[in-house]
Amino acid sequence: MTSPAKEFHGWVAHDSTSPLTYTTFTPKPFTPTDVEIRITHCGICGTDVHTLRSGWAPTDYPCVAGHEIIGHVERIGSSVSTLPSSPASRSIKVGDRVGIGAQSMSCLKADCEACADGQESYCARMTGTYNSRYADKSKSYGGFAERWRGPAHFVVKIPESLPSAQAAPLLCGGVTVYAPLKKYGAGPGKTVGIVGIGGLGHMGVLFAKALGADSVVAISRSSSKKKDAVEGLGADGFIATGEDKGWAKKYSRTLDVIICTVSGPDMPLAGYLRLLKRDGVFVQVGAPEDALPPLMAFSLIQKGVKITGSSIGSPEDLRTMLKLAEEKKVLPWIQERKMRDVNQALVDMHEGKARYRYVLKNGEQAKL
Ligand SMILES: NC(=O)c1ccc[n+]([C@@H]2O[C@H](COP(=O)([O-])OP(=O)(O)OC[C@H]3O[C@@H](n4cnc5c(N)ncnc54)[C@H](OP(=O)(O)O)[C@@H]3O)[C@@H](O)[C@H]2O)c1
Ligand SMILES: [Zn+2]
Ligand SMILES: [Zn+2]
Repeated sequence: MTSPAKEFHGWVAHDSTSPLTYTTFTPKPFTPTDVEIRITHCGICGTDVHTLRSGWAPTDYPCVAGHEIIGHVERIGSSVSTLPSSPASRSIKVGDRVGIGAQSMSCLKADCEACADGQESYCARMTGTYNSRYADKSKSYGGFAERWRGPAHFVVKIPESLPSAQAAPLLCGGVTVYAPLKKYGAGPGKTVGIVGIGGLGHMGVLFAKALGADSVVAISRSSSKKKDAVEGLGADGFIATGEDKGWAKKYSRTLDVIICTVSGPDMPLAGYLRLLKRDGVFVQVGAPEDALPPLMAFSLIQKGVKITGSSIGSPEDLRTMLKLAEEKKVLPWIQERKMRDVNQALVDMHEGKARYRYVLKNGEQAKL
């Protein structure tokens, strides 16, 4: 086999405003615990938009975004088949169809509370799939590219029955809603609200239904997505917070768990909390670029509700989510775009046009 390439081709951001350019970048050095894949598909997540425009903090350009990556394994490090940290990754073979989500590494140390508990996404030394650094200080680069290279621990096999284009969004958006739904008991006997019917939100409705929740309510700003949510995704109820007068009072104390995927700060947070039953849980997963709205203490005091957040999911969460998706046929609604049209797709994503996830597809002509 040829030696590992020093450069990959991909769509590189050089600053917060210019379009991405197709050029070369330098991936991490290939190590014995790494896998290298040829990318076929990559979803566009709201996080890509925040990061490319330096919305949360200055991004470490050059940056290759994209962390809902599907591709075929082309190269495997010599230690992957005996990887101590992940028995599940040991069976990865050249030619396998695999996926990588928003995390590419963590410390994996036995004395790390998060890693030792299989909660890698809460490790203080987590490496994001892009705009981040590995322990050797090399930069991480994501999936708007022809190839991806990184640690096998964070690579998962894709079940055969899931088409690649639909499986891609599960790898970040899907697991981000699945993990807290599971953790906070969304299932039989529970009523669940999903706020923001975008990429994450529409998968939230699908997963809450797949987990067997008694009732799932889609909560959106307007009624424009009502038909999709109720007739298509299977939501049992729909609230349009910008249109339904008195919605917070009308539906107060009806939900056990709320997953909020809203990506902007201008949300009616106190109203959402009114929807919770006593001891209900509100989980914020959307990550606005500004602070959340202020709250009166009574929003928390009156019913003992809890407000929490959740960060993506572990590799084990990814595997159990993919299994559920396969069993219950959880298929995100996607619109395929060509990888070379990534700039226009990002503009459309920013304008809220995706229904409900854009997935970039590499052309057959991609250099092998
Ligand atoms: N916690 C994590 O680990 C994690 C993982 C992945 C993504 N995220 C974050 O989750 C958020 C959502 O990502 P996504 O990919 O689902 O994005 P998306 O497809 O753009 O969906 C966001 C949804 O939020 C709602 N929204 C409400 N107020 C908004 C506003 N002011 N501006 C824009 N949208 C608004 C919209 O739903 P309606 O039209 O129904 O109101 C929109 O569809 C992003 O902030 C992203 O960074 C977090
Ligand atoms: Zn993401
Ligand atoms: Zn750790």
